[in-house]
Amino acid sequence: MRFGADYYPEYWGPSKWVEDARMMRELGFNIVRIGEFAWKTFEPGEGRYEFALFDEAIGILRDHGIDVVMCTPTAAPPAWVEAQYPQTGRIRRDGFHERWGARKQYCHTSTTYRRLSWNVSRAMAEHYAHFPGVVAWQTDNEFYADPCYCPECEAAFRKWLNARYGTPEELNRRWGMRFWGMEIGSFEEMIPPVMWQHPSHELAYRRFQNAQVRSFQKEQIDLIKQYDPDIPITHNFMATPAEMDYDGFGEDLDFVSVDQYPKDLTTFPYYSYSYDTVRGFNRGPGFWVMEMQCGYITREVVYLMPPPGMIRLWTHQAIAHGADGIVYFRWRVCPSGHEQFHSGILQPDSSKKGRSYREVAEIAKDIPKLRELGAPGSAIKNDVAILRGLQNGLACRLYNNGASLNYDEELQRYYGALFGSSIGVDVIEPTHDFSGYKLVIAPLLMIVDDDLVRRIEAFVQAGGTFITSYRAGIYDDDAVITTETLPGKLANVLGIAIHDFDWLRDPKRVDPKPIMHYKDADYEAIDFADCIEPGSAKVVASYTNGWFSDYAAITRNALGEGSAYCVGAGYPAEFYKAFLRDVCTTVGAAPVLKTPEG
Ligand code: GLA
Ligand code: ZN
Repeated sequence: MRFGADYYPEYWGPSKWVEDARMMRELGFNIVRIGEFAWKTFEPGEGRYEFALFDEAIGILRDHGIDVVMCTPTAAPPAWVEAQYPQTGRIRRDGFHERWGARKQYCHTSTTYRRLSWNVSRAMAEHYAHFPGVVAWQTDNEFYADPCYCPECEAAFRKWLNARYGTPEELNRRWGMRFWGMEIGSFEEMIPPVMWQHPSHELAYRRFQNAQVRSFQKEQIDLIKQYDPDIPITHNFMATPAEMDYDGFGEDLDFVSVDQYPKDLTTFPYYSYSYDTVRGFNRGPGFWVMEMQCGYITREVVYLMPPPGMIRLWTHQAIAHGADGIVYFRWRVCPSGHEQFHSGILQPDSSKKGRSYREVAEIAKDIPKLRELGAPGSAIKNDVAILRGLQNGLACRLYNNGASLNYDEELQRYYGALFGSSIGVDVIEPTHDFSGYKLVIAPLLMIVDDDLVRRIEAFVQAGGTFITSYRAGIYDDDAVITTETLPGKLANVLGIAIHDFDWLRDPKRVDPKPIMHYKDADYEAIDFADCIEPGSAKVVASYTNGWFSDYAAITRNALGEGSAYCVGAGYPAEFYKAFLRDVCTTVGAAPVLKTPEG
């Protein structure tokens, strides 16, 4: 088990290093993460590399039994990058050109930024290859795809489209560009989407931007491996950032990490969801929390100091979901600069009397016990999987879908019910093999392709239970609506037809929302409602009011040895508790422990 903190030796300077390392050892730390914002220290001017400061700090830490995760420092380009290469800054959709002054302001496509990133990463990879104390690398910091609309992105987007569609005619055909006469005559006529929200155009651009981020990272990974082939490489993901599709990113890494700032008590189930999600980026067991909240934090406001015991609870929550490394953000509050009002284990006075320090010291005593229990490195085995394909997440945001559909919210309705009854869940990408689960839940499965449909059918045929929700099967891979009767390619496995549906989030709605009767209770639909007509499927629950009462609300189709449910709307939490309790009993998915509700 790795246990430690995020540390900024370049900020504190040599006078603090020995004392800090001594205090860290006292806490039982065996790891610190360093360097992710230290580009200026490593390369004070272009092509001039200096490693003495970090070498000495790493040496001192190592003398105290503390290893380091080294980072490529490309998340915070120095001022000289901006001064010499202002074109590396991201251009936002509204034309605003991001500049130096904070961090993460760069375009992942920029050939200049790629060259600079490559240079500093290469110099560091060479210097720190097989370096005593360096046990892993982290790439950059918290990738997210704030799209860039600069001229280089525009040119690269054309190439990306060309590779994907081959000819402009094919793009025109697949995107249905005849409407509004949007056909392009050549890829040269294509630009990034800046006007309105053409669904296919938007989806393509977001995929393109994500691909740029992934290849930006891959260049760094390849460099590090070139000099030190066996060193493990990770990235500190945010679990569920908007606009970002991390699907596949885990394949490029040796292990994945996540940054967690649970802020307050209300978000506890979400953080379990996010651990299960990030674990799913991995193809193997385990992950690290590379930044774990250990006090008050700053966002738009300064959030509350977690009540006593909370940091310990968060830490145990992460470990219970498979974390093999806990690294607190950050060792000590920096009295100056960005995030001045963001806590650390220590306040600037380094006193051991502060509550964060005392609580981390208490947690430190738990860690050896976990080691004895064999917790670190253990694979988690669950009967239930939720399919979370971020293509669907992006699809939910397209056009004005976003006002009525919220992908992670819908997934968490199912997750929350399972969490409440302590049933373990793996949140996995749809491309993963799910054939071994008893129950697979795929809410808002908007984009489907033949391969996924085949695997779902095979899973059900072989005895698996499958649940999907409204909007299932509506889109092809280009976010074009199917011309088959809904649920399109999923009609066979679900045994239903859908000809009508209703959006329910319109704030000015006057008609009553559909009410569904399941077992002995009524539930009012919150989101989108499908009007289901059963074919081979049996009706599990129907709507009871207005014109909806002609339709089924939930169906179950028996196919082969298994069955497939469609839950046609989004409901309050109480429904999912009742429904999933029944389904889990039927499929034999048991809680990991008998626990009180919640
Ligand atoms: C992110 C960053 C950190 C820090 C924290 C503050 O997770 O990775 O550098 O800014 O937020 O909460
Ligand atoms: Zn760009």
